[in-house]
Amino acid sequence: MVDVLIIGSGGAGLTAALSAKEAGASVLVVGKAYPTNSQTSMAQGGINAALGNVGEDHVSSHIADTIKSAHGLCDEDMVRKMCADAPGTIEWLESLGVPFSRLDNGKSGKDTVAQHQMGGASAKRACYAQDYTGLKILHTLYDTCLKENIDFLDEHYLLNLITKDDTVKGATFLDIRTGEAKQINAKSVVMATGGYASLYHGFTTNAYGSTGDGVAATLRAGGAVSDMEFIQFHPTALKHSAILISESARGEGGYLLNSDGERFVDELKPRDEVARAIFTQLQNNKEVFLDLRHLGEEKLMEILPQEVALCKLHEHVDPSSELIPIKPVAHYSMGGIDVDYALEVTGIKGCFAVGECSNAKVHGANRLGGNSLLEITAFGRFAGENAYKHSIYASSKPADDTQLKMDTARIEELFKREVILNFYEQREALGKLFYSHVGIVRENSKLNEALEKVITMQVALPQMGIKDKAKENNQNLVEFLEFSNALLLAPTTISAAIARDESRGAHYKLGFETEDNENFAKHMVLQWKKESV
Ligand code: FUM
Repeated sequence: MVDVLIIGSGGAGLTAALSAKEAGASVLVVGKAYPTNSQTSMAQGGINAALGNVGEDHVSSHIADTIKSAHGLCDEDMVRKMCADAPGTIEWLESLGVPFSRLDNGKSGKDTVAQHQMGGASAKRACYAQDYTGLKILHTLYDTCLKENIDFLDEHYLLNLITKDDTVKGATFLDIRTGEAKQINAKSVVMATGGYASLYHGFTTNAYGSTGDGVAATLRAGGAVSDMEFIQFHPTALKHSAILISESARGEGGYLLNSDGERFVDELKPRDEVARAIFTQLQNNKEVFLDLRHLGEEKLMEILPQEVALCKLHEHVDPSSELIPIKPVAHYSMGGIDVDYALEVTGIKGCFAVGECSNAKVHGANRLGGNSLLEITAFGRFAGENAYKHSIYASSKPADDTQLKMDTARIEELFKREVILNFYEQREALGKLFYSHVGIVRENSKLNEALEKVITMQVALPQMGIKDKAKENNQNLVEFLEFSNALLLAPTTISAAIARDESRGAHYKLGFETEDNENFAKHMVLQWKKESV
């Protein structure tokens, strides 16, 4: 039995693994893909910390900006903890060897880390490694895990959490390579499974795999989820591929232009406001472009080389001489697994959640760019420590194999099932439905229509299944399981959006265009009674 089982091998999971191991735990990191294949790399623009390396800044300003952007839906104590931990977190990342871009200011250590502006920030606060910040952090964390001899089990897809008496005992997984279901017993579990923005399939910066597997497993196991209606739209994705173009492009001085060549919004407002302004232009049949031409090729290649490459490769434009056609797409789920001050999941003792899968109430209704990398590293360490502490006193009696038998039977049934409906078509339809009906600007009639359609899809799920009957390396099976999870989270997200008859941050509803603090300055929490197994 392992002390701390980490599910998910992105930045949050790797950080939690390092801190649990350092505290003295035996640690196993299990992921459905490989450790450097994670959404963490999509946080390109930076990681926030009030270092004041470029102009004045204070932790109190970081806290104030985060609270303002959250529109009253954050927990101020959690925000204070995250922002106060930020300078120490940069120091820690530095000590691991993250290659931050540097200032030539004659100082040393973290005082030389370059910082630039991100939307909604009152100072140049985002520490960056060109426009590869998330990627560099991820690779450095993984290198460090290898150095620390942390054990990994790759290509294992989470099926279910195992609980007894509301306490976690481990989890079941599909071993993708063999097609067998497996049980892993653990004293503590850290969920670091990523968000659910790929509900917007085809209209998201996320990889196809961000299907909220951990959020869905938590719900099934009797844990709570909250604020599911808050999905952040990133203002600048490439028009034809939805590939992210980092906010740091605007932070470095990029403009947003419409097809009349006019700037129509302050480019450095928080993402919810900029995304809505772009949406309005598109609704008025204008095209929208990111304009970086005036920054010049030299600066672009020095600070934004990845964006230049992505524009050339995926949109066939050269940002130093051409406009970049963009559109806003789903980027980040603010809601997720509900956790307390110790990041322990509401309703499941010994199970912790961190990063995009969790709702630690630090982002509220709208996350600030640069706070996601901060959350996964600052709170990743905290989650790892707390999981270790829980493991010290947890029972070492393993769970029985009831859950494993149920999951094995389900997989066997899928291999026998006759396929009448193609779930890939349904996944495509779900993405389009979410973008058009549960998007940047919402209205109750469309949300209700979307809910009806999603319930119809759920009812039809038994007619969908896998055409590929190979046991080993069956991607068709994994994608079907992911789609089943998406169908579980879709009505949860829509119902919360229907219930919230107001506008707040990323949730903007026609007919209810203002914040209603009397009725809605609260979290929408959903928790099911767990069926006993
Ligand atoms: O635009 C970006 O670089 C994204 C950053 C983030 O989501 O924090």
